[in-house]
Amino acid sequence: MTTIRFGLIGLGLMGREFASAAARWGHLTNVDARPVLTAACDTDERAFGWFKQNVPTLEYTTTDYQALLQREDVQAVYCAVPHHLHAQFYTDVIRAGKHLLGEKPFGIDLAANRAILQEIDKNPEVFVRCSSEFPFVPGAVAIIRALREKDFGKMIEVESGLLHSSDLNPKKSINWKRMIEYNGEYGCMGDLGIHVVHIPFRFGWFPSRVNAQLSKIVRERPDGKGGVAPCRTWDNATIYGEVSQQDHRFPITIHTKRIAPGETNTWFLRVIGTRRSMAFSTKYPKTLQVMEYEEGGPQAWQNIDLGYDSAYPTITGSIFEFGFTDSILQMWAAFCDELANGRKKMKQPFYCATPEETHQSHLLFTQALESYGDRA
Ligand SMILES: NC(=O)c1ccc[n+]([C@@H]2O[C@H](COP(=O)([O-])OP(=O)(O)OC[C@H]3O[C@@H](n4cnc5c(N)ncnc54)[C@H](O)[C@@H]3O)[C@@H](O)[C@H]2O)c1
Repeated sequence: MTTIRFGLIGLGLMGREFASAAARWGHLTNVDARPVLTAACDTDERAFGWFKQNVPTLEYTTTDYQALLQREDVQAVYCAVPHHLHAQFYTDVIRAGKHLLGEKPFGIDLAANRAILQEIDKNPEVFVRCSSEFPFVPGAVAIIRALREKDFGKMIEVESGLLHSSDLNPKKSINWKRMIEYNGEYGCMGDLGIHVVHIPFRFGWFPSRVNAQLSKIVRERPDGKGGVAPCRTWDNATIYGEVSQQDHRFPITIHTKRIAPGETNTWFLRVIGTRRSMAFSTKYPKTLQVMEYEEGGPQAWQNIDLGYDSAYPTITGSIFEFGFTDSILQMWAAFCDELANGRKKMKQPFYCATPEETHQSHLLFTQALESYGDRA
């Protein structure tokens, strides 16, 4: 078992998820590399308490990420901080020679993303990936396997989305994720987008002729201090595009919505072909929909119960249910597996989102903004 000594920068929602995944590494049965969280950084010292209580391997805490980067015993970093810090922090991590799993959107905008990719080019020995866990949910795993192994015929259309709903409540106080200076012009696309394009991009479905419908629905929110603050980020986006493959073109639709009533964290993917179609949504996490079609034959969708058929095998029985924290663990397994063994010797073939894929996502979101123009 190879151990990878990790420093964590940003001890918020996602930082705790990483610590929790590392703590139950024994869940995985065939991964030969494990993360060991030894150093943690956050400007808010109140965040240290949970980590000190729950991470026995933690040796060092600091409010200064540069101090963490100076530690020679830190080999890799997980960085989960607000978007306006991505370019500075990620380039500093890479320059310090630490491997990096960075959070999306991997730069607040296209220029920030380019700066990160330039630093990666200068430091080719550093391994860098972007966090994106939904491809590790069993329904997505099944679609990815089928896309590799089965004949979908001529592609008719692809649709993917990630839907949230808590912002439907106009009384929900604003936080950095709704402030343009910390979250970025992309708004919901930067927040939710990589989750939705990771699989399409992996299979070469990058759209041209991009046209987007963007919406600002709740334009001000309580500021949490008794007043109100403007809410200038895009709430919802639907991006339409066209994918060209050899002599064939098909439409792709990408939804990222923060105000989709009733949807708590609904990720879905529909891949529709002339011979095979597949659809999965985390709304119905046990159900994989498949239709196989022979010319002239019946057109019947099957609903197949999914068990715990994960990318990396675990101790969990195959009939049991899979959840968000499992997908985070699986994504971390893919990161550590690829870092320790290289892409060709990974224990399963699906690797984490690459910096190039984040760049494609930035190109797409920038085109989406441009297509909508200045209609605020
Ligand atoms: N993969 C996913 O499913 C997923 C889900 C939510 C968020 N995210 C991404 O994770 C990142 C962080 O989001 P979050 O939800 O964990 O946010 P959060 O607000 O819960 O946590 C961010 C943490 O960063 C800390 N921080 C801010 N400035 C800092 C600095 N200068 N130095 C050190 N620490 C600093 C904050 O104090 C806070 O504890 C974002 O890029 C976000 O888009 C990913």
